[in-house]
Amino acid sequence: MTKQKKSDEDRISYFDGYLYDKLIVPRIADWNQVIVDRIEYNTTVIDIGCGVGALSFMLANKCKKVVGIDISSKMISFAKKKLAQTNFQNLTFLHWSGAQSSAIITDHFDIGILMMVLHETDEEKREKIVEEAFKMTNRIIISDYLNPFPLNSAGRNLKVVEFLAGLRHYKSFRSWMRNGGIDGFVKNLGLKIENEKQWVEPYTGCGKFMTVSR
Ligand SMILES: C[S@@+](CC[C@H](N)C(=O)[O-])C[C@H]1O[C@@H](n2cnc3c(N)ncnc32)[C@H](O)[C@@H]1O
Repeated sequence: MTKQKKSDEDRISYFDGYLYDKLIVPRIADWNQVIVDRIEYNTTVIDIGCGVGALSFMLANKCKKVVGIDISSKMISFAKKKLAQTNFQNLTFLHWSGAQSSAIITDHFDIGILMMVLHETDEEKREKIVEEAFKMTNRIIISDYLNPFPLNSAGRNLKVVEFLAGLRHYKSFRSWMRNGGIDGFVKNLGLKIENEKQWVEPYTGCGKFMTVSR
């Protein structure tokens, strides 16, 4: 059961909504597909930090239920407008912080996803987001940049993209990389790694995911 409340937290970037959809979503389409391929049919999924919902829409084609939440009202309102143009009955978007998920979401999901969220989250909130996620699911796919970046043009381009996303974002990104990215984070929390995959390619850059449990 999901209770509808208004989030007391809103975190908007100039990049959210239209710009994110036009400039970033096409670049991460293949990356999203890697995750979609990992998810079994008819499962229930919570997509935490769903942004404009690109991955959530892809998942809604094969999953029983998908809930996307995001701390940015601009991201969620973009996702909701897109949703209104579809026939999906199994997809919901909520404006809410992943650090407070259990305050409004009482459902249990087969799997949770944190796709490119933790590198842009304030350092002190990362652990809380994962802790809250484990109240809703037993397994989480954490996907983010490969750390360290490759020493090629893809790696250099990604650093520029992260810088252009704004000072607050860049600061979080730097602390995420400094602390070892996904590997450092998962190790620090003592999470069990069920499977993992990483890739480097010229267009998307470099990514990694891990399915983790406690
Ligand atoms: C780089 S975007 C990734 C969006 C989407 N997962 C994707 O892969 O396209 C990071 C997203 O995380 C969201 N976010 C950051 N902190 C959050 C939090 N505490 N709770 C929920 N969403 C958060 C941001 O608003 C943003 O939409």
